[in-house]
Amino acid sequence: MLNLTSFLTLTFTSSSKIPIQIKTGTLMRSSVAFTTGLILSVGSLTSCYDIQQTFESVRDITRPHAVRVNIHHLDKRDTAPAFSSLQDEWSADVVGMQAMRFEKSTAVAEICAKELHNIESAGQLYQLQQSCRTLSGTLQISDFIDPVIDLGGLQNINGDFIVENLPDVVRIQAHNLATIGGTFKIDSLTSLTSIYFPVLHHFDAIEWKVVPTLTSLSLAPNISHAKRLTLSDTSLIGIDALERIEDLDILNINNNRFLEYVKSNVKQVNEQLSVSSNSKELRIDFPSLIWANNLTVRDVASVTFPQLQYVNQSFEVIENNFERFETPLLKTVGGTLGVIQNTHLSHIDFSNVTTIQGGLMIANNSNVDKIDFLPELREIGGAIQFIGTFHETVLPKLRLVRGSALVRTTSSAMDCSKWTTSINGNSVIRGGKIVCTSGQTRNTARVSEDGQLLDHHETQLDVKPDTIQKTSLASGTLDKSKLPAFAWSLSLGWIVTMICLVATQ
Ligand SMILES: *[C@@H]1O[C@H](CO)[C@@H](O)[C@H](O)[C@H]1NC(C)=O
Ligand SMILES: *[C@@H]1O[C@H](CO)[C@@H](O)[C@H](O)[C@H]1NC(C)=O
Ligand SMILES: *[C@@H]1O[C@H](CO)[C@@H](O)[C@H](O)[C@H]1NC(C)=O
Ligand SMILES: *[C@@H]1O[C@H](CO)[C@@H](O)[C@H](O)[C@H]1NC(C)=O
Ligand SMILES: *[C@@H]1O[C@H](CO)[C@@H](O)[C@H](O)[C@H]1NC(C)=O
Repeated sequence: MLNLTSFLTLTFTSSSKIPIQIKTGTLMRSSVAFTTGLILSVGSLTSCYDIQQTFESVRDITRPHAVRVNIHHLDKRDTAPAFSSLQDEWSADVVGMQAMRFEKSTAVAEICAKELHNIESAGQLYQLQQSCRTLSGTLQISDFIDPVIDLGGLQNINGDFIVENLPDVVRIQAHNLATIGGTFKIDSLTSLTSIYFPVLHHFDAIEWKVVPTLTSLSLAPNISHAKRLTLSDTSLIGIDALERIEDLDILNINNNRFLEYVKSNVKQVNEQLSVSSNSKELRIDFPSLIWANNLTVRDVASVTFPQLQYVNQSFEVIENNFERFETPLLKTVGGTLGVIQNTHLSHIDFSNVTTIQGGLMIANNSNVDKIDFLPELREIGGAIQFIGTFHETVLPKLRLVRGSALVRTTSSAMDCSKWTTSINGNSVIRGGKIVCTSGQTRNTARVSEDGQLLDHHETQLDVKPDTIQKTSLASGTLDKSKLPAFAWSLSLGWIVTMICLVATQ
């Protein structure tokens, strides 16, 4: 198929090799005179096939000359990867004006109203962006061998914009595109280095994944509407494109190996805020976040949530590299709170947390030597699991744990009696079972639903020292993938307890 943006070079494979250039944009007829050295002008939307036909018939007459048609994607292909911003601006104006002229024709406007445009070549895309300013449907690019996808004069895409599985594309640019009504999806563009959308300020979702060479990103500075953002497997260094957005449904940033910072002024995240598996140096800064439905912070070097007050579902802090983690205003966690395997973490501030409606899991944080960072915690809706090397647990205000309790530390200084005996008649644990292991001593107890201690056993773990080491390490080793299962079993336990309570009323 003829690339309309390109020149055609015709080469004679005879003794006299003379290239003939046919410039598209002017009309070509089959009656065109064929003279060596002549520059032919080609007009309306002619196809490669027509041209070849023309010359094939000519060839028949003018033997022994054989004709070969080479298509060169001159402008775009040769200069694309190194576009200067000057060129960007220039082509933006020109293309924008052309699109405006074209859209007046109603015949073309019908094209623009199509539900789905499946673009397979630069020629098709060129024609489309020359004809339309607004596409009412979805634009999908599924086959494209040129290095640059240029949306030229397009200003609005009311549906989605989908670009998938194109190993040759190095740049996607859209100088005039202001809105994407649906999802801007990029998947598996393994050579893409640059996304240049300098006026894009309104979109529903961005879902970019498997763009491992993407280093340059331009969106409008005044993004006014964005709901969901997923960035996965890019080479971006920083993300601060969301300065003005206060309300998001999803922010999911994962597997960006070079990412150094994420900064957002978002105040609430309705579904999921998750940052995981990026560069080990990643700093994240959410100075205005007040609540998130669920929140995952994983593999991060530093984090600030100075305003965070609620996490409505689960809150996971896993395998991070920071020494301090502070959420001084956090009041409640609606699901499970997990602080797991943060090997450098020594200072935790949950000083305002009063209620955790799911379970509480503090595990394998090797520098946490006291679990005393929940001074206001009164109630836990699920179970407790404390695993590690700590020598003390201090929860002065804790009055009710609806699930069971598992406390296991390698430190023999830990006093298990505060868990397995009741202070004034009743245990705070209502979930049936308490197991507290400190060093080589294991205490187990059963409690009734109203907290009465039913029995209590103390056993010495009778294993050789090196096996102890292994056992405690293995048990201290928590598979993070089991957290959802853990959360589930906690909720299940809680539901069963509730049913029992109701049944016994
Ligand atoms: C954002 O900037 C673009 C031009 O860059 C403009 O067309 C648009 O109206 C602006 N939107 C807001 C909400 O300021
Ligand atoms: C967070 O919430 C979203 C939507 O509510 C859900 O799809 C996702 O699985 C949740 N993630 C976790 C870790 O609970
Ligand atoms: C999360 O909790 C906050 C504070 O209680 C509340 O305003 C918000 O509506 C809740 N969000 C969801 C999705 O339940
Ligand atoms: C708890 O939160 C309140 C505001 O809700 C704040 O004034 C107080 O300082 C917080 N307490 C701590 C210990 O940070
Ligand atoms: C638990 O922490 C220790 C370091 O104290 C580490 O060696 C071990 O690998 C961790 N567990 C897992 C599953 O990574």
